[in-house]
Amino acid sequence: MNTNNLGFAGKVALVAGASKGIGAATARAFAQAGASVVLLSRSQPAVEALAVSIRQAGGDALAIAADVGDENAMKQALASVMQHYGRLDAAFNNATDGTMPAPLADLDIEGFDRGIRTNIRGTFLGMRYQIEAMARAGGGAIVNMASVAGINGTSGLSGYVSAKAGIIGLSKAAALDYADQGIRINVVAPGPILTHHLEAAGADIQRHAALSTPMRRLGRMEEVAASVLWLCSDAASYITGVVLPIDGGMTAGTKVPMNYRRGEPPRPAEP
Ligand SMILES: NC(=O)c1ccc[n+]([C@@H]2O[C@H](COP(=O)([O-])OP(=O)(O)OC[C@H]3O[C@@H](n4cnc5c(N)ncnc54)[C@H](O)[C@@H]3O)[C@@H](O)[C@H]2O)c1
Repeated sequence: MNTNNLGFAGKVALVAGASKGIGAATARAFAQAGASVVLLSRSQPAVEALAVSIRQAGGDALAIAADVGDENAMKQALASVMQHYGRLDAAFNNATDGTMPAPLADLDIEGFDRGIRTNIRGTFLGMRYQIEAMARAGGGAIVNMASVAGINGTSGLSGYVSAKAGIIGLSKAAALDYADQGIRINVVAPGPILTHHLEAAGADIQRHAALSTPMRRLGRMEEVAASVLWLCSDAASYITGVVLPIDGGMTAGTKVPMNYRRGEPPRPAEP
């Protein structure tokens, strides 16, 4: 997707949870589209390394280490952004952390709490200080990261599902709070995206994940990034409070084989 015409030149975009995966891909996309990018994550060396590679590619980036669940750290982070750039136009709250999959009764409680803290408290605190900064610049756009797992239930992921469903509720309420103040707040809800997590899971899991989508393929990080940039751009100027699935059709419903409708025997299940 050509993002050069999305109007990010001279704008400042913050990505929370930027050190790797979808966050890093989105930060690179913002930089390629002409924005100055604030890279926020827990590890300073990781965000600094990404900032260096963005600068080497001709972009502008500021690296900030902060835990999204820490109120003081997030307040300080936004103060640093305002000190450095004097404005904030776009923000993508993307950080996640949590537990390994398990049925609810076996779910690790400490991991459950970490998932809620990073996703819900982290998105809440992020928005709180981003909104303050955007209000000073006359408006802005925020995109929060949910998942198809925040729309539909997913077995073994009750903690993650709760956290992502919480982000959807939080974002809709906040979108209403600021709809008449020039600040738009939307959500993206990806299906299975090929990041280092799915790469590490191996070919079998990747194939199953791909087959769980009507498009029968995994999503690419760049496809998520393109949607985030579009929602943050003026091209989406009348859109607030929406949840945009980026999921190859997963949340559209159930794909029924056409030969079943014609009364023919169903196709054998795909492996
Ligand atoms: N990969 C997928 O298939 C997929 C699908 C749907 C939704 N998502 C969501 O997309 C987002 C990114 O996923 P990913 O696969 O790139 O994951 P990832 O693990 O690569 O990225 C998570 C990022 O959050 C940062 N982070 C974690 N805890 C933090 C904290 N307390 N403070 C600051 N930063 C913190 C990590 O350092 C990392 O940069 C997540 O919110 C995830 O739930 C991913």
